Amino acid sequence: MRIDVLTIFPEFFDVLDVSLVGKARERGILNVHVTNLRDYAHDVHRTVDDTPYGGGAGMVMKPEPWGDAIDALLGDSASDAVVIVPTPAGHLFNQVMARELSQASHLIFACGRYEGIDQRVSDHFATRCRVVPVSLGDYVLNGGEVAAMAMIEAIGRLVPGVVGNPESLTEESHEDGLLEYPSYTKPAQWRDLDVPDVLLSGNHGAIAAWRREQQLERTREMRPDLLTEEH
Ligand code: ADE
Repeated sequence: MRIDVLTIFPEFFDVLDVSLVGKARERGILNVHVTNLRDYAHDVHRTVDDTPYGGGAGMVMKPEPWGDAIDALLGDSASDAVVIVPTPAGHLFNQVMARELSQASHLIFACGRYEGIDQRVSDHFATRCRVVPVSLGDYVLNGGEVAAMAMIEAIGRLVPGVVGNPESLTEESHEDGLLEYPSYTKPAQWRDLDVPDVLLSGNHGAIAAWRREQQLERTREMRPDLLTEEH
């Protein structure tokens, strides 16, 4: 998968060299490129923002640098690229969306700052490829960079070959719409706390039933909004 990031803060993405995503980059499974949007500015001051039409606080990112930068990244692959615009005014990101986006061959993260990017950038590119505004949650970050990092990790780890043991991807929170069950390792006693007996029993049926019950209990307590009739 090719992943492009457009940002005025390329240094935010230096950490993509570490951990599983870093290894996947080394092995060529994830081909990640970070581009400084200011390289596409049209003036010597490398200006990327201006005051909003209609008034109001803050600055809006100018369309021209975004247009030229995304044109350059799309090249001929326009139809199968997905432009992701991190914004608190987008669709809520979740595991279903991460899995769906992990099937794409080319993702372009357009990380806006200030009061966002001139709307015509999304409107224009929506005529040439898929453009998806995506929110990480109901809170406001200073820009799209941290949200893009989170999405790159969530999507990237679902690309085949990135996570060594694919089974570890199936038994985790949100994969079956429930939160994950609690996990324990050795020692069996620590401080005054014991590992639940059932996990030491060797009875796989009982362990599976206990884990399922724990998943339901945790989800009921922490995320009742996730429970459906099927559960
Ligand atoms: N940019 C600013 N806030 C954001 C959020 N909550 N999600 C995604 N991008 C953002």
